[in-house]
Amino acid sequence: MTTLRMELGKNSYDITVEGGSLQKAGKYLDLERKVLIVTDDGVPAAYANTLAAQCKEPCIVTVKEGEGSKSFPVLEMLLQTMLGAGFSRGDAVAAVGGGVVGDLAGFAAATYMRGIDFYNIPTTLLSEVDSSIGGKVAVNLGDVKNIVGAFYQPKAVLIDPDTLKTLPERQLRNGLAEAVKMAACFDEAAFRRYYEEGDILPHIDAIIESSLRIKKAVVEQDEREQGLRKLLNFGHTLGHGIESVCGMEQDRAGGLYHGECVAVGMLPMCGGEAKVRLSAVLEKIGLPTKAKADPMQVMAALAHDKKAAGSVVTVAKLDRIGEGYLEKTALSALSAAVKEAVL
Ligand code: GLY
Repeated sequence: MTTLRMELGKNSYDITVEGGSLQKAGKYLDLERKVLIVTDDGVPAAYANTLAAQCKEPCIVTVKEGEGSKSFPVLEMLLQTMLGAGFSRGDAVAAVGGGVVGDLAGFAAATYMRGIDFYNIPTTLLSEVDSSIGGKVAVNLGDVKNIVGAFYQPKAVLIDPDTLKTLPERQLRNGLAEAVKMAACFDEAAFRRYYEEGDILPHIDAIIESSLRIKKAVVEQDEREQGLRKLLNFGHTLGHGIESVCGMEQDRAGGLYHGECVAVGMLPMCGGEAKVRLSAVLEKIGLPTKAKADPMQVMAALAHDKKAAGSVVTVAKLDRIGEGYLEKTALSALSAAVKEAVL
């Protein structure tokens, strides 16, 4: 068992990583109250039921799997459920699932009665290494992602790596994209040890812990993404554009998951040795390095995605592993990178 303390003053919290911890969640979380448990229909129902069995007054809401659930109608449904069940300021919301459920449930917790306690229990590798910690919660507005949200830190994060046993291997690779991103930008030793040397999958527990340590250090220095934390968006500027065009929501048959889009988005932002080493690691994991997409459509999606940010964007770049840096660039100057990312 590992417990990491996210040190954020009055918003500090423990991140517990322990196999089997879901079954004893009451040891770590205050469940002696009403708890809205938000999960989705792609997550084994047993996980939410296991948590519910430990709550004094549980209420499980299962939303549809996928980005479409990060919407105002679904958010309103959660808030109405809490209101109808008489939730007060002393009650809590718990997310059991991946990044979509965490973002949605976290935003519901942040907004109900101006904020009630939120617990995040991530069950996908992607959410266990990245999205469950750091307090970013949001819903989408139309097709603009995460444009309505908050920095709202959970009261606790409970990671049970046993939940990965039911995760399809493609989803493991999807989560590894975000883990690789963190080592590539911040920690050369971890990049070499966990991704370049030997097999990757036997080291998932160590990879989770290493990723959490990197992210914790970044968030503690820059909780509200004024500078350093923007490096965690490495691969995401192009990745979001690619996801808008060929993500799972657009094309269920041949679509790409979020981490896969991030993988594709990382390489065009690299130069020098970083490009060679990162490309080899992505191929070793089995992540895509190109997407089948029309570059004009990806550029249009980028412009749409970034319309609130203006024509100049800050992108994360990498020339040497472990030394990510930020660069301001005109949106239009990304067209060469987009061409490099597509087949
Ligand atoms: N997933 C990037 C961040 O939390 O800042």
